[in-house]
Amino acid sequence: MTVRDKIVMITGAGGGLGSEMARLLCDNGAKVFILDLDAEKGQATADDIVKGGGSAWFIKADVTSEADWKAAMNEAVKTCGRLDVLVNNAGINIRKPVEEMSIDEWCTMMKVNTGSVFLGCKYAIPVMRGQGGGAIINTSSVCGLVGHKYTPEAYTATKGAVTMLTKAIASRYAKDGIRCNSIHPSTVDTPLVRERLKDPQFHAERLGEVPLGRLATAADVANAVLYLASEEAAFLNGVALPIDGGVTCY
Ligand SMILES: NC(=O)c1ccc[n+]([C@@H]2O[C@H](COP(=O)([O-])OP(=O)(O)OC[C@H]3O[C@@H](n4cnc5c(N)ncnc54)[C@H](O)[C@@H]3O)[C@@H](O)[C@H]2O)c1
Repeated sequence: MTVRDKIVMITGAGGGLGSEMARLLCDNGAKVFILDLDAEKGQATADDIVKGGGSAWFIKADVTSEADWKAAMNEAVKTCGRLDVLVNNAGINIRKPVEEMSIDEWCTMMKVNTGSVFLGCKYAIPVMRGQGGGAIINTSSVCGLVGHKYTPEAYTATKGAVTMLTKAIASRYAKDGIRCNSIHPSTVDTPLVRERLKDPQFHAERLGEVPLGRLATAADVANAVLYLASEEAAFLNGVALPIDGGVTCY
């Protein structure tokens, strides 16, 4: 996949899926800005990549903060002169069913999972348009495609919004050479779900829904991001790509 020398920004790349994406893209010659709220994890991921011979920089940023987005975009453009790929990946899950969730918790979910994607696109699009194009990849979930029965409704709503925001941006900004696609992983063993996966019932439910008979890995997800970021995906725009072993087939 051709991503050599592409300038990439990935949110929530201090750990979990984002750090795997950052490592794989750097292994393939991209240069990556790692954004995360957690400075220790974010810096450690960047240091590790640089130690391995790759190019990565850490920027501490809260993806719900417009000021942090402006600062991060300015820093990337100042350092590298452009931004070829933005991966809006940071996300959270407050695990409560709708009847137990407060309106404040709902708003927090919306702000982190959906508002962050809006802000990332808002600040990346002018940069990409100015340089003749780019690619945006938004991390949704299988829950952005179906009303997943094991997942809290608020999480599903935030991810559904990401699916449609992606398609709307894809159709409006294609004329500027900007592709916008979303990815939809099923359950992956990352810090986001690691504790829950220790519950045998939770684990059995998640495994039992996958036709391919195993959970997704962070590498499965990173490989899809590598493809969507690459030159080989030049005609993919507005695609909602499941990485789910078939979970959303039935
Ligand atoms: N793990 C799964 O099973 C799974 C499945 C489908 C989709 N997803 C989605 O994939 C994305 C990554 O999830 P993950 O499993 O790697 O989670 P994770 O909790 O392992 O990592 C998320 C990262 O985002 C950072 N983050 C959280 N809030 C932030 C904020 N406001 N500003 C900046 N950084 C922030 C965290 O510090 C952390 O490093 C999320 O959008 C999640 O919803 C995960």
